[in-house]
Amino acid sequence: ADIHVQTGDPRKISDLLMGVFFEDINYAADGGLYAELVQNRGFEYRPSDKEGKDETWNHQTAWKVQGKGSLHIDSVSPIHPNNKFYAVLDLPSVGAGLQNKGFDGISIKQGATYLCSFFARALNGIKTGVEIRLVGDDGTVYGSTIIKGIAGNWKQYQDKIVANTSAVSATLEVKPLKAGTYAFDLISLFPESTFKNRKNGLRADLAQAIADMRPRFVRFPGGCVAHGDGLENMYRWKNTIGPLEERVPQRNLWGYHQSAGLGYFEYFQFCEDIGAEPLPVVPAAVPCQNSGTGGAGQQGGIPMEDMDEYIQEIFDLIEYANGDKNSIWGKKRAAAGHPEPFNLKYIGIGNEDLITDVFEERFRLIFAAMKKRYPAITVIGTVGPSADGTDYREGWELADALEIPMVDEHYYQSPGWFIHNQDYYDRYDRSKSKVYLGEYAAHLPGRPNNLETALAEALYLTSLERNGDVVHMASYAPLLAKEGHTQWNPDLIYFNNEEVKPTVGYYVQQLYGQHSGDTYFSSDIVLSESKPAVSKRFGVSAVKEEKSGDLILKIVNLLPTEVQTNIDFGDNIVLDEEATKITLKGDPTDLKCQPVEIGEQVSNKFKVAISPYSFTVYRIKTKMGVGS
Ligand code: AHR
Repeated sequence: ADIHVQTGDPRKISDLLMGVFFEDINYAADGGLYAELVQNRGFEYRPSDKEGKDETWNHQTAWKVQGKGSLHIDSVSPIHPNNKFYAVLDLPSVGAGLQNKGFDGISIKQGATYLCSFFARALNGIKTGVEIRLVGDDGTVYGSTIIKGIAGNWKQYQDKIVANTSAVSATLEVKPLKAGTYAFDLISLFPESTFKNRKNGLRADLAQAIADMRPRFVRFPGGCVAHGDGLENMYRWKNTIGPLEERVPQRNLWGYHQSAGLGYFEYFQFCEDIGAEPLPVVPAAVPCQNSGTGGAGQQGGIPMEDMDEYIQEIFDLIEYANGDKNSIWGKKRAAAGHPEPFNLKYIGIGNEDLITDVFEERFRLIFAAMKKRYPAITVIGTVGPSADGTDYREGWELADALEIPMVDEHYYQSPGWFIHNQDYYDRYDRSKSKVYLGEYAAHLPGRPNNLETALAEALYLTSLERNGDVVHMASYAPLLAKEGHTQWNPDLIYFNNEEVKPTVGYYVQQLYGQHSGDTYFSSDIVLSESKPAVSKRFGVSAVKEEKSGDLILKIVNLLPTEVQTNIDFGDNIVLDEEATKITLKGDPTDLKCQPVEIGEQVSNKFKVAISPYSFTVYRIKTKMGVGS
């Protein structure tokens, strides 16, 4: 192949292209990114959380009484009305206690410190101490502490436990030291070391894996979780901020429970910690498929007479993120420990909603109100689900009519689709709304993602960079999946309590994130074998990262043969001779290959053999501003 990079012809592209889509699907939040180790800590699990599944949940799920004693659930006198239920432990004699197995066991590390806390009341008024222990299945104690002075009124108690060993599946025990009747709630255990050591923080290894992708934005909290599967299931951001005992837990539509421990404050904080723009997506006042009112089959949304209140809720979110620390909602952010604004610039309104009259009248109201009150915030609309996977006509008609700044498209397609549709955005009208490709992935039916799917995505991403003037943001979906608890496959990063297991597709996203640019140079590619089917399996993208001045060349080869390649950067550029070359390659069915980085000599014109089934990234320092 001959590749001629037109370095004399620079074009500005979006510097936000590579981001992540975080949805609480596949246990991505509780039991996943959110570092809480106790399952059902607030005794708020309900049968409806698990509707239609083999297992039935209730307020006692994940808990049991060890020894002689009984447990029941009460709601007469809760800590806070939002956190209605609590456990009452009745102990006729000393020695028994409550046990929690966490999410598939509690993973602990030798020498690590764990923060335990709980709310408690001694209901018979007798002051007691409570022993908190981490134990193995055979009763071996891995660490313990005694918290004294549990008295008659609800109060929060906390202490630290240091683990004396590493264990994959420990159990937490809570044992009052005197016979009596005790109420407990929000029994919690966190590793002291969370990502950036935030309180109520995130699991460090998982958060680091996301940070390592260098995402320019994080979309949250979904996906379908954002709009819910009914009016009562919409994700309402106010339910997820403030003290944990005041947050409103709810059923997760993917068939489990959402504690709201990972809420809007934590999302904003995470974005700031990794240098990503926050991209919250709020419901467009309609739930999934407009399934809001009137029972099965009927469509609906928030009643029109309540829309002013709903719009105010969105305004309040913007004040929470950006308002002065003395404003009503800014004050709540400051109380959570962040007096400075989070500097929110983007907001998604709606997720993959059917474009019906019900949707449209509500979206129009929200959009007009946002434009008037917060013109500087970029509103991202949705173009809806598509019958054939990529036909968004109705959504685009609305986007055109309202001149929505950006719209969210979603598609999951075969690798072949991604290979053959690299001109998808070449055809887009540059004068219309910009695109946020909010969900995409190459899917092989019933099979995990592998090097073939990853390379199909890498090829498609060359076309997204080429169209970086139209496609401003893109995020693979879904991001996280806990082994044994997936509702959607494939995903980008699998994990269990001990390990993070990035897929091959993850490395493609990571390489694009770490080596993205804000200036694009078009390239001419001539393959010696110039049949269209062949040439579509070989792609190139050249960008410059203005900050470093580095030139980045990406080459994707989805052909089964090595391609001898002549690369020509032209004469109007001075390159460092020593480049960094990163290659991801293997057999198309490989599930586990990883990028390998080496130093390599390059020049303005150089030859290289591009391996079959490979993704190659060159990062080259330039001695002068390229193309400037
Ligand atoms: O990414 C998984 C799901 O796919 C999202 O929740 C939804 O938006 C889409 O249908």
